[in-house]
Amino acid sequence: MEFRRPRGTRDFLPDETRRRRFVENVMRRTFERFGYEEIQTPTFETLELITAKSGEEIRSHLFHFKDKSNRDMALRPEFTAPVMRLYVNHLQTKPKPLKLYYFGNCFRYERPQSGRFREFWQAGVELIGSGYPEAEAEVIALAVETLRELRLKDFETHVGHVGILRKILEERGVGEEHQNIIMGLIDKGEKEQLELLLDKLKLGEDKDLVHKILGLRGGDEVIPKAASLLEGKKAQEEIEKLGQMLEKLRDFGIKDYRVNLGIARGLDYYTGMVFEIYDNKLKAQKQICGGGSYSLAEVFGGEPIPTCGFAFGFDRVVMAMEAERARYGEEDEKRFLIVTTGEKLLSKAIDISRMIREKFPCEVDLMRRRLGKALKYADSKGIPFVIIVGEDELKRGRVILRDMKTGTQREVPIERIIDVL
Ligand code: HAM
Repeated sequence: MEFRRPRGTRDFLPDETRRRRFVENVMRRTFERFGYEEIQTPTFETLELITAKSGEEIRSHLFHFKDKSNRDMALRPEFTAPVMRLYVNHLQTKPKPLKLYYFGNCFRYERPQSGRFREFWQAGVELIGSGYPEAEAEVIALAVETLRELRLKDFETHVGHVGILRKILEERGVGEEHQNIIMGLIDKGEKEQLELLLDKLKLGEDKDLVHKILGLRGGDEVIPKAASLLEGKKAQEEIEKLGQMLEKLRDFGIKDYRVNLGIARGLDYYTGMVFEIYDNKLKAQKQICGGGSYSLAEVFGGEPIPTCGFAFGFDRVVMAMEAERARYGEEDEKRFLIVTTGEKLLSKAIDISRMIREKFPCEVDLMRRRLGKALKYADSKGIPFVIIVGEDELKRGRVILRDMKTGTQREVPIERIIDVL
């Protein structure tokens, strides 16, 4: 009987795992350079936490189960809610801002397709305690910098603001529940349903305004255009905030963004600036990053506090690396295989491997292969250097070092092996 893995999950073989680890390390390094510290949260949480202010999109795709005490639990579909719970439980009194980052697997029961999985990974950050435009701008800048560090080129950063639409609706007496449904329909592109609901809510001329705002996208000229459309409305304040934030974003060296007031995001907790990054080389599921400003601490019993963050769809970033043929770093470029010309020399080979391993990855041939076969094995595994321990050389205190790329060999004194590399 053959066992198959569950739909929407994947196995990662060594080559792919190595590439994924490289991307993960670049992300971690970049987050840390901006002052973020890593945290970890449980893989499952109470259903109540996960569904609070999460939105229909998340709720309808949960892996949800009852534990043996009949409590409702869910595998985490994202990190923002768990991180805010962690903040309320442990970190409320710490100096602000708090800069937290995470890396881990998430679960959504979606229809699997290219770039959409049931188990996928997110790498993200949450900035807690500053609502200033420079804080929001720094968060977007960090996302873009991370992709630049990975040498991705063909991506677009779209920046919007859900507060504008929420304020228009609020001023018309539309409550939060309906606002959330509207945002969800916009996010999913369900135009007919949206029309029906907007008609039902009797928005008058503001229905037209909603459509005009949603259609606004382009460069910085969008800001004054939107401001004049919103003349005399509460929502005008929100567009001004977005303008100030974009100014700071330019200070961070990010100038090639697009203003896109049509972004709604699929989660209910967003309140202000929102952004999404798309990779143009990906065919389906181009969105590699999403984030924005939100309000959740008070939902979990904490004091209200400004918060913003983002999460990379880690798997999609890796796919974008492949699609853009971005280069993976030359980490572990120096790797070694040690082979002997006879079993008697194995102890010496193991001895040498321990010395080399202090500095570089090194393995001893464990199959007692003859030299020719060992070289083939090194080649197939992409190991760039082979050390051959032979009797004659050993008598002189030396071994042979073979460069697999060029095929050249030379004798080196054992005690100097690490120095000559
Ligand atoms: P999200 O847009 O739902 O936002 O997810 C973030 C990213 O995760 C998406 O842009 C996408 O790349 C990736 N993603 C989502 N679902 C899947 C899937 N089924 N398969 C593969 N990749 C997927 C959030 O989760 C927010 N918590 C982001 C955030 C952090 N906002 C503020 N702070």
